[in-house]
Amino acid sequence: MIRVGVNGYGTIGKRVADAICSQPDMKLVGVAKTRPNYEAEIAIRNGYDLYAADPEHADAFAEAGIDVAGPVDELVADSDVIVDATPSGIGERNCELYEKHSTKAILQGGEDADAADQSFVARANYDKVGDADILRVVSCNTTGLTRLLTPLENRYGIEKARVTLIRRGGDPGEIDRGPINDIVPDPTEIPSHHGPDLNTIFPEMDIDTAGVKVPATLMHLHSVNVTLESEPRARDVRELLGRESRLFFIPEQAGIEGLGPLKEFARDAGRQRGDLWENCLWEESITAEGRDLYLFQSIHQEADVVPENIDAIRALAGDRTREQSMQLTDRTLGVGLESMFTDQKRRAVRPAADD
Ligand SMILES: NC(=O)c1ccc[n+]([C@@H]2O[C@H](COP(=O)([O-])OP(=O)(O)OC[C@H]3O[C@@H](n4cnc5c(N)ncnc54)[C@H](OP(=O)(O)O)[C@@H]3O)[C@@H](O)[C@H]2O)c1
Repeated sequence: MIRVGVNGYGTIGKRVADAICSQPDMKLVGVAKTRPNYEAEIAIRNGYDLYAADPEHADAFAEAGIDVAGPVDELVADSDVIVDATPSGIGERNCELYEKHSTKAILQGGEDADAADQSFVARANYDKVGDADILRVVSCNTTGLTRLLTPLENRYGIEKARVTLIRRGGDPGEIDRGPINDIVPDPTEIPSHHGPDLNTIFPEMDIDTAGVKVPATLMHLHSVNVTLESEPRARDVRELLGRESRLFFIPEQAGIEGLGPLKEFARDAGRQRGDLWENCLWEESITAEGRDLYLFQSIHQEADVVPENIDAIRALAGDRTREQSMQLTDRTLGVGLESMFTDQKRRAVRPAADD
């Protein structure tokens, strides 16, 4: 069993902690946070050992009647791998603590790429982890782009990718984010940070990205245009992408015409927290014009990095191949929604490996 601790039990950390508990080869040692708020109560209710991330304020837990298992140092010492899901910038500072205890660690996309030995998306570079001690699961948007572009690059070669990212203003729980009545180029410069971030996975890929922020909390929407090195048929692209377990095609007949119904569908399908771990591609948007491919995909920012964190744990401390790890993660979490639809052609091609 791989012993895993989660430092930072917020939007990402609580989802990763739950996902660890459903893995047959992992044990959740505990979770750490600084304050005794509702998330601390939920951690205790879930039976998770709770550690004080900030020992100076550990008394606050006792005052709130919440039992703490110990300081975060003990969690780190007792874990083979720490998933650090603290707010941006704190993970990098925590690396000293992880190194002190020779505990491998996974940072999140809010940290600089330089803080880790390797940026990570399972589909693209699980096999390259080697002796790395610190991985960085890239941001939700970069994860979604990498999952989409990897099979396209492998099959056709990518001459140039251009992506406009229409980004949610904040997560549903973030009361202080925005905009609330605007549409904001963010950043105004081109490229946004997403293209360079993707280059931490594919250094040679020619990609331009532009970012916009909108008053929504549900998901991001990507408008994708990829010029391939050889001319694809849209049908072949659908088949290629249809074999990818973490790409979900929203079928035309489903009547899902926006991100609201998409999240409603996830909740109706029984997904915990309404999470969508898969990139969600509008099937009829997949269009080929010569060597240009166009499509829309949506990314649930709170959820798509969760399976990647699980695979990153195995890449650091397990003995499974990429295919074995991704299949196990997908099966235990329940990744893949197409079985909900009766006429999904892609069922015929799943789960054969493509490349
Ligand atoms: N949310 C997203 O859409 C998203 C998507 C992909 C990647 N990410 C990345 O994931 C990371 C975490 O983001 P998030 O959205 O999960 O943040 P979050 O919701 O704010 O959660 C972070 C948690 O860490 C706790 N924390 C604060 N300081 C800490 C410390 N020093 N030690 C331990 N815990 C501490 C906070 O709780 P207390 O203050 O109560 O301790 C908070 O609940 C960031 O790098 C972010 O860029 C976020």
